[in-house]
Parts: sequence; C-alpha cells; structure tokens
Amino acid sequence: MPCAWPSSATTSSDSTSNQAKIDELAAGRLPIFEPGLEEKLREALASGRLLFTTDTALAAHHGNVHFICVGTPQAKGSDAADLTYVDAAVTALAAHLHRKCLIVGKSTVPIGTAGRLTRLVQETAPAGTAVELAWNPEFLREGYAVQDTLEPDRLVFGTASAWAHAQLAACYTSIIDAGTPVVATDLATAELVKVAANSFLATKISYINAMAEVCEATGADVAELATALSYDTRIGGRFLKPGLGFGGGCLPKDIRAFAHRAETLGVGQAVSFLRQVDAINNRRRQRTVDLITELAGGDVTGVQVACLGAAFKPNSDDIRDAPALDVARMLHEAGARVTVYDPQAMPNARRAYPDLDYADGLDEAVAGAGVVALLTEWEQFRQADPAVLLELAAAPCIVDGRHALDADAYRAAGWDYRALGRPVQIGAPPLDFESDLAEARLDLPVAEHSNVRLP
Ligand SMILES: NC(=O)c1ccc[n+]([C@@H]2O[C@H](COP(=O)([O-])OP(=O)(O)OC[C@H]3O[C@@H](n4cnc5c(N)ncnc54)[C@H](O)[C@@H]3O)[C@@H](O)[C@H]2O)c1
Repeated sequence: MPCAWPSSATTSSDSTSNQAKIDELAAGRLPIFEPGLEEKLREALASGRLLFTTDTALAAHHGNVHFICVGTPQAKGSDAADLTYVDAAVTALAAHLHRKCLIVGKSTVPIGTAGRLTRLVQETAPAGTAVELAWNPEFLREGYAVQDTLEPDRLVFGTASAWAHAQLAACYTSIIDAGTPVVATDLATAELVKVAANSFLATKISYINAMAEVCEATGADVAELATALSYDTRIGGRFLKPGLGFGGGCLPKDIRAFAHRAETLGVGQAVSFLRQVDAINNRRRQRTVDLITELAGGDVTGVQVACLGAAFKPNSDDIRDAPALDVARMLHEAGARVTVYDPQAMPNARRAYPDLDYADGLDEAVAGAGVVALLTEWEQFRQADPAVLLELAAAPCIVDGRHALDADAYRAAGWDYRALGRPVQIGAPPLDFESDLAEARLDLPVAEHSNVRLP
C-alpha cells in the first residue's frame, strides 16, 4: 500500500510539513474546498488503511512506494521553480529508507530534477541504490480532483527500470483495469509531459485572448470567433474561452519555470513564446480594470464596484495568483469602493486582502453597485436573474470578465453589458438569429439547411 506521506492539501504554498493540517485531515476534515473529497477522505479513514503523520521515520518504515506531492512554487525574485520543498521532503525521507523501495515524484518540476534526486537519494539512503525514483506527473484539475484522480485521461510513468514500472502499475491497478492508457517513458520525458501540457493549455487561452485584443481594435466579436473556431475538430472549443485569463497555483508558475529551465538548458528560444503567453494573460487583468473604469465614466474614484468571484476558478477556494482578486486589488488602489463576494473563497480572500470589503452574499455585493464585474464564473453568478440584479444595483453597468453570462438576456433586462473583445451595442436590439433563420429555412430545401448551426 502506498503511504500517505505527508499531506499536500493546502490553499497556499507552505514552507514545510504542517502539523495543523495533518491533524485536520486525521480528523476527517479537509482544509481546502474540493467537491467530493471530504467524503472520500472519511471513507478512507474509516477503512483503517489511511494514516496521516508528520513522522518521517514512521512513513519510511510503513511504505514501499512513497509519493512526493509537495509544492513547487515560483521562487522569490526569479521565474524558476523553488525546489526547496521537494528537496527537503526527499532528503528527509531518504535518511530513513533501509530497504528496497520506490520514491515517486508527483510535483511539477523542471526537467532534470528526477535525475538529480536519484543521485541524492542513492548517495544518502541507508539502502543506497536499492531505492529508485520514478516520476508520475499529476494532471488533476482543482474542482474536479476526485473525478480526475479516479478516472484520469492517462497515466504517465517515468521510470528507470521494469521493477519501478511494476510498482507504479500495482498502485494504479483498478484505474489501469478500467482502460486508462499508460504512457511508459523515461524520467526526463515524464517531467516534460506536465510542463508541456500546461504550456499548451496556457497558450490556447492566451491565443483566444490575443484574438480578443484584435477584436477590440476592429469591432469583431471574439465570442463568435471562438464559436466558429471551435467547430474545427483540429482546434476544439476547450480552453478557447476568451476572458480574464488564467491564474492559480499551476499554469502561471509552470510556464515561467519552463521558460526559465529551457533558457538554462540553452533552448530558451524554442519556448520564448511562453513569455508572450504570460504577457497576454497579464494584460487581461489591466484591460478588465480599464473596461470597468470606462463603464464608470472614466474614473473609478469613489465608485462602488461589485466584484463577483475571488477564487482563480469556480468550484475551488484557491486564490493563488487569482485574476479576480488582482482586478479587485487594482480597482481598490485606483480609489474604487470594492465589494468582493465568492461562494467559497471568502476566508482565503479576507486573509490575503484584508483591505477590501466583503459581502455575505451575491445580493449584498450587488446592492448599490455602480458597476458589477463578473470575475469568476461560479454557477450561482451564471444563474442569477439579470432583472433582479438590476433592481439591486445603482447603475445598469456590468462587465462580464469571463464571457459567462447571456449577453442578450442582460441587454434585454436593461443592462449595459460589456465583455472584452465583444462590440458595444448601445441601444441596439439583440439580433434575432433564430427567427431570421426560421424564416430563411422556409425558403431552403431541407438538404441545404440541415447543417446550419445557430450562433
Ligand atoms: N493544485 C493542482 O491542481 C495541481 C495539479 C497538478 C500538479 N500540481 C503540482 O503538485 C504539486 C503540489 O501542488 P499543490 O497545489 O498541492 O501545492 P500546495 O502548496 O497547495 O501544497 C503543498 C503541501 O506540501 C506540504 N509540504 C511542503 N514542504 C513539505 C515537506 N518538506 N514535508 C512535508 N510536506 C511538505 C505543505 O505543507 C503543503 O500542504 C506542485 O508541484 C504542483 O505544481 C498541482
């Protein structure tokens, strides 16, 4: 049985193992918001097969396979990954390894880390070269962690021997038996898979946001552009959503660390586009502030702005590098009276940004607002009734930072609805494509209109 050693559950990067979190987990309480995970935690504790400890010697004695899941945040004053925590965890564990076993890295690390750690472990562990290292990158999405863990798209096993591969395969038997593809590879490729995947996803988001910038300059509509592109199966619609851009504890720091590592390897030019991806993404935050300022009449000083959302994405309370809070902070610094509401991330947001005002609910946040800004696309916000919100707000001004609201419904209710990359429609009635198309259909033979898709 792999050893649960020590927990990696947290909402911010901690410097070391954390006794308070271990105590919470041992008591069956999750220190983060993650749908469905607390139930799984309790089931596992009840089975008697899950143990939490900060005792490294006990963990070393208990496990034959040791997963290392500690944080690899961005280093202070550099784009590089801070490997202090991975090094500390592996070093502490190695000192207590007296028999053949496998250390499995799950953390996202620069290429070459696994090779370096293998040498470190084999030189310092009492069991020496009997201890092997493998890299098994983690692809779960916060908010869907349980589903992604139990039904992953693929497993990547970076190993240096058939024995190490067999140990990993034994850990994942039920998932492999369910048909999940396993990519068996070397350590360096396994490390690279994770940063390559995150770079691709970040690039796709920044690509459509770059198109949004072009749309803003030309009057084209990025939402319709994205829809049209998404029907091309070579492109696909996922991660092609324009808006405020990405944040969180992974994509931003991973693309920076990848670019930094590539530069140290002498192949910086190959991934220099990642600097642009990062820059495009960061520009979205300022552009959203600019749009809110425009709606506020050119100056946000003293204007009450309702910021809906704080978490970096819905279904999470993670506020690491959260675009929503960055926008709220910039508005506050510009003199706006900012009121933030998020269904789950309020305690974390309050701790990180104590100067902002917080509301206890959506209605309270919107009440009296001169501008409403949707910054994290929680379902609660998407489902809100535009007519009800209009009654609460002081002015009918809304910025949809996530392209998540029904623009026509908001405009029909009387809102001045704005979203980056979408044209302004002042007083223009929404286009009635459905009835236009229905009329057109009357004139068309069936075979000609069967593939027409409504916008
Ligand atoms: N969060 C995600 O969605 C996600 C997805 C895929 C991969 N990853 C990668 O997984 C790793 C962990 O990510 P995270 O978001 O859970 O990070 P995190 O900072 O939220 O959690 C890290 C945990 O490690 C613990 N820790 C730090 N040093 C330790 C030590 N020496 N001994 C024992 N425990 C120690 C901390 O107390 C903390 O609880 C990172 O490399 C990240 O890039 C994260």
